[in-house]
Amino acid sequence: MKKLILLAVFALASVQSWAADTIKVGLLVEMTGTFADFGLQITNGAKAYMKQHGDTVAGKKIELIIKDTTGPAPDVAKRLAQELVVKDKVDFLAGFGLTPNALAVAPIATEAKIPTIIMNAATSVITAKSPYIVRTSFTLAQVTEPMAQWAYRNGVRKVFTVVADYGPGHDAEDTFKKAFTKMGGQVVGELRVPLTNPEFGPFVQRVKDGKPEAVFVFVPAGEMAVGFMKAYNERGLAKAGIKLLSTGDVTEDGVIEALGDNALGVISTHQYSAAHVSPENKAFLAAYSQIDPKTRPNFMAVGAYDGMAAIYEVVRQLKGNIDGDKAMQVLKGMKLLSPRGPIQIDPETRDIVQNVYVREVKKVNGKLYNVEFETINAVKDPGK
Ligand code: DHB
Repeated sequence: MKKLILLAVFALASVQSWAADTIKVGLLVEMTGTFADFGLQITNGAKAYMKQHGDTVAGKKIELIIKDTTGPAPDVAKRLAQELVVKDKVDFLAGFGLTPNALAVAPIATEAKIPTIIMNAATSVITAKSPYIVRTSFTLAQVTEPMAQWAYRNGVRKVFTVVADYGPGHDAEDTFKKAFTKMGGQVVGELRVPLTNPEFGPFVQRVKDGKPEAVFVFVPAGEMAVGFMKAYNERGLAKAGIKLLSTGDVTEDGVIEALGDNALGVISTHQYSAAHVSPENKAFLAAYSQIDPKTRPNFMAVGAYDGMAAIYEVVRQLKGNIDGDKAMQVLKGMKLLSPRGPIQIDPETRDIVQNVYVREVKKVNGKLYNVEFETINAVKDPGK
């Protein structure tokens, strides 16, 4: 009898260890090249969440497996996702700074039934590409529509648009035009700039020659944002009275100090500013600075932090036994109190519903920040 009980105990122990004590999260991010800041912000944001909440949930250890997509490289992203699923047997896929990498992984998420958390990539169509995708970042359409409406309400009538020539840029251009012309405004010119190594000078000159009242811009955060602002200043657009309106990608917290005082007064719309006043943001900033005291977190770090919060909630509710379909049921409709404000995952589209803020670049204690001055509550992605 004693022997039998012992055998049963061993059997149970081996089943438990087979069921694995670890929940693996495969993070696909841009860690090198022009977009290396994306990977840094996303991994820091995810680690900040784990620092603040511990690395064990429902008795399971949460493990991040970080893979470098190297930039906008769909083939690399696809191969790495396959490896994460087949070799590492990850429970979740997450990360994705850039749209092309997210789109490349959608068929793998579907085939392997792996819940996949988009922590930044912001083209509307991404969530429609797999029923296993959910987004904790934003969409360009979601933040651009309020910008067009704010501009018209504040007397702007003639706008030139400049966008990066790929998914999120096309969404920003379409959405701005639709919303602005619907109110009675006029888009007097449209330009698309290449995603890699753009020479902004000649583009910005064409905007100046078009004599609009304002230029609306979306380029990806980081080096491209710095490049655009440099050309805008060098070509004297501000002096010519052409206002700069942008999505928050251009004045994001990671580069805002590098933009310098020329950025003062720029109006943008976005979902997160490091200057957002709330207890949740205060706690987030403190956790982030423990991971990386040298950089200021931007919206990508928050998308990753909230993505980890969503993963922790799934693990908790499923008591550590992750099943793709059950995980999606938990994610659909999930509500979280984010450092940016309240957020919810739309149960129908699996996209995020959140506040969008209108902000102005100002000095706060001698440093540049996006200071929020208007809130549009609970905005859904209008691009669906
Ligand atoms: C993408 C979107 C962004 O808003 C950004 O700043 C960078 C990249 C993207 O979807 O690729």
